[in-house]
Amino acid sequence: MKVLIVGGGGREHAIARQVAQSKKVDKIYCAPGNAGIEEYAECINIGVMEFDKLVSFAKEKEIDLTVIGPDDPLVGGIVDPFEAAGLRVFGPRKNAAILEGSKAFSKDLMKKYKIPTAAYETFENPDAAIAYLEQAQYPIVLKADGLALGKGVLICNTLEEAKDGVKLMMLDMQFGEAGSRIVVEEFMTGREVSVLAFVDGKTIKTMTSAQDHKRAEDGDKGLNTGGMGTFSPSPFYTKEVDDFCNQYIYQATVDALALEGREFKGIIFFGLMLTEKGPRVLEYNARFGDPEAQVVLPRMKNDIVEVFEACIDGTLDSIDLEFEDNAAVCVVLASKGYPVSYEKGKVIKGLESFKEKEGYYVFHAGTSKTEDKIVTNGGRVLGVTAKGIDLKQARANAYEATKWIDFSNKYCRSDIGKAIDEV
Ligand code: AMP
Ligand code: GLY
Repeated sequence: MKVLIVGGGGREHAIARQVAQSKKVDKIYCAPGNAGIEEYAECINIGVMEFDKLVSFAKEKEIDLTVIGPDDPLVGGIVDPFEAAGLRVFGPRKNAAILEGSKAFSKDLMKKYKIPTAAYETFENPDAAIAYLEQAQYPIVLKADGLALGKGVLICNTLEEAKDGVKLMMLDMQFGEAGSRIVVEEFMTGREVSVLAFVDGKTIKTMTSAQDHKRAEDGDKGLNTGGMGTFSPSPFYTKEVDDFCNQYIYQATVDALALEGREFKGIIFFGLMLTEKGPRVLEYNARFGDPEAQVVLPRMKNDIVEVFEACIDGTLDSIDLEFEDNAAVCVVLASKGYPVSYEKGKVIKGLESFKEKEGYYVFHAGTSKTEDKIVTNGGRVLGVTAKGIDLKQARANAYEATKWIDFSNKYCRSDIGKAIDEV
């Protein structure tokens, strides 16, 4: 088979590596890819939002399967023109990707189908939002309805902060159109867990759990980022939690979408909060998490291409997902200053240390190639993943491996996976 992967970050590197393990695959292309993905794929210079060019490329090269990585093209509806051209593609159509594309949609869906989530109200008018906020309980959460690069959520401790938030989103339009409608949500406390699942329209099969660290600095301080590190599995995701989610959340979400005429095929990512009252859905994404994929996929035993095909064909019920009985930790190496401002173009040394080291991986996120050197080209530069027999061993291995890499202004959190010490 010939496979095309759309995207060019750490997540797509992890997907490409997994696809390269498949017995069924002869050739992989990646658009636009990155310097690390080149090990597995021929990278082509087409952007993820250039749907016409991507479809033409897939037709011309007779691609057998296209896998979409990022949220933007999915929410923008990339799957529909691929299907219209008779091409096989893994990911939800536009009318189902709205699960991630509109928080108001996903909240209304959960309410209608009684899927456990925080109480909320939706506003399209800033005055109405402020009138509501004047009599609300604090803290409270403000969310831009649309995609906002993971920055569209504000936790407000006071009415003043909430008013500033409304101004930022709805009047200053800091997040563009994404903020023209907002969701105001009850503040919840608890542990967060990410559960990713394959879905074929009817059947859902969850993968092993993971936990992300979204803040830039140790102790979960500093600004929100795209993710500074992950571990898998989450020791807080117990059998009891899994049973609850199976009964009230996972299948219920797939069935709700089907009943609304929005059959979902692809990945549903459940952002869960384990509250005192039980698990609640914080958010849905319509794709693999980044950097969740970098810890979940290396532990997967199945041929991922077979699973992608089963989702497209509606035969996922015949697949048993299997994960290794071990653990993995990913530590993101960023450029100092991320997510605000940082320098690029620093030469990266030590990448070759990962060659043929079983259980150690270096996934490229913001890198580029100049002549024969690999240089930094983004805020999050690399994700260093290591496996271990348990979480503590995996964490020790991952931090050891971060030392193999060197570039100027290298920065990482030192407490990825610290939560596991509390178990
Ligand atoms: P989201 O993009 O919706 O996952 O939100 C980003 C982060 O904001 C989450 O990972 C949580 O840490 C936090 N968050 C979102 N919604 C809530 C909520 N209702 N209560 C408390 N924290 C929240
Ligand atoms: N790691 C969180 C996300 O991918 O949205």
